[in-house]
Amino acid sequence: MKTTVYVFLLISLSINLHAEDGHNLWLRNKNTGHVNVVCTRSSATLTIAIQELQQGWQGKEGAKIVLTLKNDKAIRNDGFKLSPDRIQANTDLGILYGVYELLRRQQTGEPVEEMICNPSYEVRVLNHWDNPDSSIERGYAGRSIFWRKGDNSLIVTDKDMALWKEYARADASIGINGAVLNNVNASPLMLSKEYLDRVKAIAEVLRPYGIKTYLSVKFSSPSLIGKLKTSDPLSPEVIKWWKNKVQEIYSMIPDFGGFLVKASSEGQPGPQDFGRTHADGANMLADALNPFGGIVMWRAFVYSPTDLDRAKQAYTEFMPLDGQFRDNVIIQVKNGPVDFQPREPFSPLFGAMKKTSVMPEFQVTQEYLGQAIHLVFLATMWEECLQSETYQEGAGSTVARCTDGSIYPQKHTAIAGVSNIGLDTNWCGHPFAQANWYAFGRLAWNNSLTSEKIADEWIKLTFAPVLPGQATSTLFSTEWTEHFLIPVRQMMLQSRETAVNYMMPLGFHHIFSANGHYGPGPWWAPKGMRSDWTPPYYHKADTNGVGFDRTHAGSDAVSQYHDPLGSQFNDLKTCPDKYLLWFHHLPWDYKMKNGRTLWDEICYHYETGLQQVREFQIIWDKVESYIDTERFTMVQSKLRNQCRNAQIWNDACLLYFQQYSRRPIPYDIKRPMNDLNVLMENDMKRR
Ligand code: GCU
Repeated sequence: MKTTVYVFLLISLSINLHAEDGHNLWLRNKNTGHVNVVCTRSSATLTIAIQELQQGWQGKEGAKIVLTLKNDKAIRNDGFKLSPDRIQANTDLGILYGVYELLRRQQTGEPVEEMICNPSYEVRVLNHWDNPDSSIERGYAGRSIFWRKGDNSLIVTDKDMALWKEYARADASIGINGAVLNNVNASPLMLSKEYLDRVKAIAEVLRPYGIKTYLSVKFSSPSLIGKLKTSDPLSPEVIKWWKNKVQEIYSMIPDFGGFLVKASSEGQPGPQDFGRTHADGANMLADALNPFGGIVMWRAFVYSPTDLDRAKQAYTEFMPLDGQFRDNVIIQVKNGPVDFQPREPFSPLFGAMKKTSVMPEFQVTQEYLGQAIHLVFLATMWEECLQSETYQEGAGSTVARCTDGSIYPQKHTAIAGVSNIGLDTNWCGHPFAQANWYAFGRLAWNNSLTSEKIADEWIKLTFAPVLPGQATSTLFSTEWTEHFLIPVRQMMLQSRETAVNYMMPLGFHHIFSANGHYGPGPWWAPKGMRSDWTPPYYHKADTNGVGFDRTHAGSDAVSQYHDPLGSQFNDLKTCPDKYLLWFHHLPWDYKMKNGRTLWDEICYHYETGLQQVREFQIIWDKVESYIDTERFTMVQSKLRNQCRNAQIWNDACLLYFQQYSRRPIPYDIKRPMNDLNVLMENDMKRR
């Protein structure tokens, strides 16, 4: 009997191992039987919900499932109540989310119990940094799915609509309900009639899936496309221009979500060009959007080349404005105070702005984490941020709770992820980068999910054997679990720490080469370049030591954190090792808690990172028989590249910093393989 089952399983597996190009993401599984869906209402969204159930049903053959729209106070927003034979919600979209939850549970083998499931955030939005010419800022998976270059670029084709529909479905299946369609470094073109026509067409495809469209706007649009003499937010003609523009947009897209604004930041125009504050600028737009229910997501990513520590600037600029923003403005704050680095402490603005809505911004695209080449699962990084204790309202004031309405009575709650999606067949470039899109959606829906749970779900949905007529969860044999699921999950959960180890351990940050933000460049400081755009500004290495002093004796950034955290970061005895060089400048022979010198500890971290990626190669090679050749070889090849790059990171950082530490690399670790001068020359060529 046992042998028969085993042979059957092997045959099943080999049937499953046909080529997969990754385009179906985590939505590969098909129904295994019939289901009777009872739903007395009808709408485009409910039609999708019914179809999804019929096409993806893996429950009991011939079972009945009732979709009920009935108000229930325990259900919030687009939440739902799930039971084995019923999905209840206040809205059609709630029903659709309930359907996706039910199907996910069937496919991953989780029981379907009676439960209420409410979203953590009201707005769960992807920020697409897509430009009208179809390029994507920090995009590593091909051109834009929304914008095309060249003649007829604004004509909407059937192919466009089919792709947008697939995109909307993928988003909805993980609870994402908004898409900002263009780059934060916004082109004013986006607000012209021609572009708005295309936005309308996109919105129509996204709407049944519950995805609202938003636009990034350029603050100087009134002058640039409205031909006004000024874009001063307090000028009556500017106010009128925006009101008219907003009215025009809502006449075309009645459920338009609102604006995302990067203003007075990295050269972008903003209210400060006119002597006005961020609040003046944001409120003017908020007033224009308010009659239609729209919101303004105003970014706090601001810094200028002053003497002030860059990590302090957003807080310094925004804290005095707390309480001055309209209630349909949400301040969008990056997870860390600098810029999506492999590791940063959380931004001190979280929890500190008590009278203003604040939303986290995560970067799904791996700008600083190996782009579409390195395997880095970001859920652990976002979990680390969301679960960080701010102490702003006593113990338990985590970033998650300070932003999701649990602590502060925010009118709107939101979370944003900078998308990693492009026209590549598999959407994200790296097969495992899909897991980051998935993880963002799942965490936006439920900000207390663990990375382990998310990885588990994603692996099962993305790689599980598929056999016609056979429920996916019945194919999770002990063998598959032990030899595929567990090692791959472990690799994913380890992967971010690994990248930190071989790129920027112990609190190092922003030591990338040039502007590509990919390889190492701790030396990079061309003449005339703004110092806060060069790595030496951040690592401050010299023969005396290394690290950025942000203690009371230094830039005093520690004081932006609520005590006891500020004091913990300030004090070497309590500052966590992972943030050591973020907050402290230390001599190379500083004695670490484990007894090693700082220099040795740095070397061991790089070495560990390198060894860990080499281990990933073995883990991956071992799972070859469980996965189709196409995805297997793609990941295998990317891992080889990642290893070569980790070696370069290791060699560049050890050899560069060794010039200052003037100490040997510990003799029990492998020697660098590249010469520093060659690495530096190549870096210059890459620019
Ligand atoms: C990073 C990134 C830029 C981007 C900016 C932002 O600095 O490198 O390309 O424009 O973040 O978030 O606005």
